[in-house]
Amino acid sequence: MNKEMHPDLKSILISEEELKTIVKKTAQKINEDYKDEEIIMVVILRGSMVFAADLIRRLKMPVKLEFMQASSYGSGTSSSGFINIKRDLDVDITDKNILIIEDIIDSGNTLFRLKNVLESRNPKSCKICTLLDKPDRRVTEVDVTYIGKVIPDEFVVGYGLDYNEYYRNLPYIGVLKEEIYE
Ligand code: IMP
Ligand code: MG
Repeated sequence: MNKEMHPDLKSILISEEELKTIVKKTAQKINEDYKDEEIIMVVILRGSMVFAADLIRRLKMPVKLEFMQASSYGSGTSSSGFINIKRDLDVDITDKNILIIEDIIDSGNTLFRLKNVLESRNPKSCKICTLLDKPDRRVTEVDVTYIGKVIPDEFVVGYGLDYNEYYRNLPYIGVLKEEIYE
């Protein structure tokens, strides 16, 4: 178990041990589905990089690693309906199997738009893998193939997820105290 919790947290939602299990199970499903078919993992910066780093080491097919960064206009703990692609792929994805790696799906706005952008480039397939899903907050429906864990509507940080760019380094996922972001 986690010996000490960060003082800005209310509770630990997902321990290091559970995260390991989630990554392992998710990788198993991906390995079964793609077999030896090559994929391009498109990691959405910056929150997904810790999850992606653990996941990629468990994948068995030929896999290439690419990054994209999108920002949604708006700040604080909720996103707006608009996204801006701050960093795009620099490879041609025509006829490739794309696996988008996201840290968390909240309103669904970011991924809905990103997936549309990638699908318009005619990949062979385009699927989404997210570590966390907060379905209670969904505004835009988005088709997600791999979900690590469904969580309640609380603002979480750690294991790559941030609040104001902090807390990404925590090895577990915790619920941030409301007084920190109020
Ligand atoms: P969406 O467009 O509302 O689905 O927002 C997805 C993005 O919002 C994620 O990639 C995160 O960067 C951020 N986000 C949503 N919920 C949380 C949370 O609980 N903790 C940290 N970041 C979050
Ligand atoms: Mg993010």
